[in-house]
Amino acid sequence: MASSFSFLLVAALLGLASWKAIASDPSPLQDFCVADLNSPVRVNGFVCKNPMNASANDFFKAAMLDKPRDTNNRVGSNVTLVSVLQLPGLNTLGISIARIDYAPLGLNPPHTHPRATEIFTVLEGTLYVGFVTSNPDNRLLSKVLNKGDVYLFPEGLIHFQFNPNPHKPAVAIAALSSQNPGVITIANAVFGSNPPISDDILMKAFQVDKKIIDLLQAQF
Ligand SMILES: *[C@@H]1O[C@H](CO)[C@@H](O)[C@H](O)[C@H]1NC(C)=O
Ligand SMILES: *[C@@H]1O[C@H](CO)[C@@H](O)[C@H](O)[C@H]1NC(C)=O
Repeated sequence: MASSFSFLLVAALLGLASWKAIASDPSPLQDFCVADLNSPVRVNGFVCKNPMNASANDFFKAAMLDKPRDTNNRVGSNVTLVSVLQLPGLNTLGISIARIDYAPLGLNPPHTHPRATEIFTVLEGTLYVGFVTSNPDNRLLSKVLNKGDVYLFPEGLIHFQFNPNPHKPAVAIAALSSQNPGVITIANAVFGSNPPISDDILMKAFQVDKKIIDLLQAQF
């Protein structure tokens, strides 16, 4: 009796461990699986096109990350992501890349990637970056990065980057451990959801009155 209980416990723990191991993209079972983005078949990811029909162009994207992007928006940053949707060869390979442009004083606001760890390097300028650990500690681990410095944002944790220089723009490159990392911008998701989360819920969650919630919601 006791031993079958401990067997079940061990089985449950192994199950949990393997669930964690597949929280990111699964490993491929062939050289590649170039996404057939037009297939009507729904799978986890995309179905593969015939590998005999794959060509170099399935693994190539010309001039995606060379140009500075327009940062003339409310936060002063612009993310150019190359995921499986832009580069079908990424399907099943568990990786993607992004360029991020920052205006002077520009911010890539607090957000998380539900499916990816991010490794980040500065190409130009200076960036103040950080992430916050999960409950209950919620420690902020932050750093000022200069050109060539590397920082890591662990999977699922809230993180941000800010350009503290009032005169110079900044540029960074990020690699992400998913073909489709996803992004949840915290303020937009909480205060700009469609339909909105009710005032009662946000008032209790943030411990402020309705006026402040309405003001925050009006920004998104
Ligand atoms: C492969 O390419 C050939 C020649 O371009 C085409 O006729 C065929 O439909 C393609 N097959 C698939 C599965 O895409
Ligand atoms: C990012 O830049 C591109 C091209 O420069 C522009 O079309 C796009 O609207 C910009 N996105 C944001 C959020 O500003």
